[in-house]
Amino acid sequence: MARRGNGNGNGHGRKTPGERLVEVGDQIRGSQVWTSIFRPGSIFRRGYTDSPRNRSYVIMNSVLYHLHPVKVKRHAVRVSYTLCLGGLSFFLFILLTVTGIFLMFFYRPTEAQAWNDIRTLHTAVTFGLLVRNMHRWAAHLMVITVFLHMARVFYHGAYKPPREFNWVIGVILLLLTLLLSFTGYLLPWDQLALWAVTVGTNMMGYTPVFGPQVRFVLLGSKEISGETLLRWYVLHVLMFPFVIVIFMAVHFWRVRKDGGLSGPL
Ligand code: HEM
Repeated sequence: MARRGNGNGNGHGRKTPGERLVEVGDQIRGSQVWTSIFRPGSIFRRGYTDSPRNRSYVIMNSVLYHLHPVKVKRHAVRVSYTLCLGGLSFFLFILLTVTGIFLMFFYRPTEAQAWNDIRTLHTAVTFGLLVRNMHRWAAHLMVITVFLHMARVFYHGAYKPPREFNWVIGVILLLLTLLLSFTGYLLPWDQLALWAVTVGTNMMGYTPVFGPQVRFVLLGSKEISGETLLRWYVLHVLMFPFVIVIFMAVHFWRVRKDGGLSGPL
């Protein structure tokens, strides 16, 4: 608490700058703002080493730390067990979100502007080419890491109960990753994009019973057009990212609820 009075020991009743600093520090630490942020369990209060109870407090009372379990199995923190492939997939998703937002500042999804905007990004925007390539490479890499993560999970038999529900969530995540990748493919509006999507949606059209209808809804017309570009843009920047974030949250939560990582082998 704040120290008051003249008992500063210098005999003049005035406080030295050092004493005033201590007093201000005490006032800040006693304030409501400080105590409401640094509650019991904050590492800024007592560190996180004094007792098992305090360590648990630190984890449970911090929004960031509580994503981690209070205790983990020893083998689960070995990089050689998971190869960090799930974590890498998540990291790439964050990178894709950040670089994607940058690209959105310069890209307009219309027939007349899309391709030109990409060219302008290459030639006239500071770091435009770099950020576009980061986005493209991260997208390719994410497909690879998600697939390898699935292979790792399969190798460890982690698809078996009690993790079978999380395996199904994982399959949905793989599907969403591929859909994000495919919808992004059209956006540069170049020949490669146009014909890749023509082939893809033609294949879709041959699905029995509802194939032609689904193709029509996805294209927004009978042929690939500006309507298609707008639809795929909205799916790519809004719908699929939104849905994948929800499924990722469920996925991470399930890892915790299923008792942490599987194993050891
Ligand atoms: C966007 C895609 C995905 C992300 C970001 C992701 C993320 C993660 C992370 C961070 C973990 C913790 C352990 C680790 O890093 O390996 C994990 C575990 C797990 N994931 Fe994924 N994952 C994705 C896709 C998948 C897919 C495609 C499957 C399977 C079809 C899957 C099934 C599982 C299972 C069963 C576990 C528990 C593994 C264990 O207990 O050993 N995930 N995931």
